[in-house]
Order: sequence, then C-alpha cells, then structure tokens
Amino acid sequence: MNSVRKTWKVGLLAGAALAVGITFGTVGSDVASADGHLYKERNAAMKMIGGNMKKLGEAVGAGDNVAAATAAETIATISDNVPALFETKSIPAESRAKPEIWDNFDDFKAKAAAMGDAARKVAADAKSGNLGSDPKAVVGSIGATCGACHKVYRGPKV
Ligand code: HEC
Repeated sequence: MNSVRKTWKVGLLAGAALAVGITFGTVGSDVASADGHLYKERNAAMKMIGGNMKKLGEAVGAGDNVAAATAAETIATISDNVPALFETKSIPAESRAKPEIWDNFDDFKAKAAAMGDAARKVAADAKSGNLGSDPKAVVGSIGATCGACHKVYRGPKV
C-alpha cells in the first residue's frame, strides 16, 4: 500500500513539473516573447494537452489507473496555465486564435477552467478506481471541453 502511494506521488509530481517546465520553460528564449507574445508557448501547451489526451486513452484501454491519473493531472495543470498563456493579445500569421478571445476573456478563462475541472474529475475517478473502461467515453468527457472552446475561439487551419 505504501509503495503504491509513493508511486502516485512521484508520478503526479513528475507530470506537474513537466507541464510547468514545458509551458513556461521556453519563455524568454522565444524571440516573440520579448514583445510579450506567447504564441509558441501556448501552442506547445495545447499540443501537450493533445499528447496527454492520447496517453489517457491508451492508459484507460490498458486499465492503467496510475498512468490515466497522471495524464489527467497533467492536463489539469496545463489548463490552469492557459489563461496566462493567452493573456496578451497576439495573433501572428500562423495562429488560429480568434480575436474574440480578448473580447470575452472571462468566458475564455471559464472554458479553460471547465477543461481543468473535467480533467480533475477523471484523475479523481482513476485514483478511486471508478474510471470507466471505455477510452472514448473517458477521453470524451474532457474532449467536450476542448470542442466548446475551439468552436468559439479557434479559427480554421492556416
Ligand atoms: C479555453 C480554450 C481552449 C480549450 C479549453 C482548449 N483549447 Fe486547444 N486551442 C485553443 C486556441 C485558441 C488554439 C489556437 C491557438 C493559436 O493558434 O494561437 C488552440 C490550439 C490547439 C491545438 C494546436 C492546433 C494547431 O493549430 O497546431 C491543439 C492540438 C489543441 N488546441 C488541442 C486541445 C485539446 C486536446 C484540448 C482539450 C483537452 C484543448 N485544446 C482545449 C483554445 C482552447
């Protein structure tokens, strides 16, 4: 029991550290960041969220609750950073961000929080052994919050 607890802790810390490192680690080294533009960082954060959704699906499929909780916790941690990463309005040519983000920033923040809440629920269910075994359903419970934001605030591929 003790060693199981330990594994949890280490896994969660590693996940959180990784998330924070990737979302903020490159600030300053990014040329655009000199102007307060965090396009690269916010895009890297989104891609990392996507990667962890994939990991989550694989973990659920394999019945691995520890890995599922770690992936969900990582998504939750990145979700908490999303408002800061988008705070400064910047829409470089390669960006899909819509200007509406900055007209309705409170709503944008609420949608980021909804993603965090959904991810935290999955993590809690994984830890208590109450996570369903259908990867699509579990991933979809967070995925609905991705779509809710993308539909309003992400434009077509450029
Ligand atoms: C609060 C709003 C919001 C939420 C929630 C959100 N996204 Fe995003 N996402 C965006 C915006 C805005 C962009 C475009 C950013 C840009 O190009 O400047 C984006 C871009 C992306 C990209 C990069 C696409 C590309 O053009 O390369 C991926 C991948 C992505 N999101 C995945 C996800 C996944 C998976 C989730 C849910 C687990 C999610 N996002 C939740 C707002 C959100």
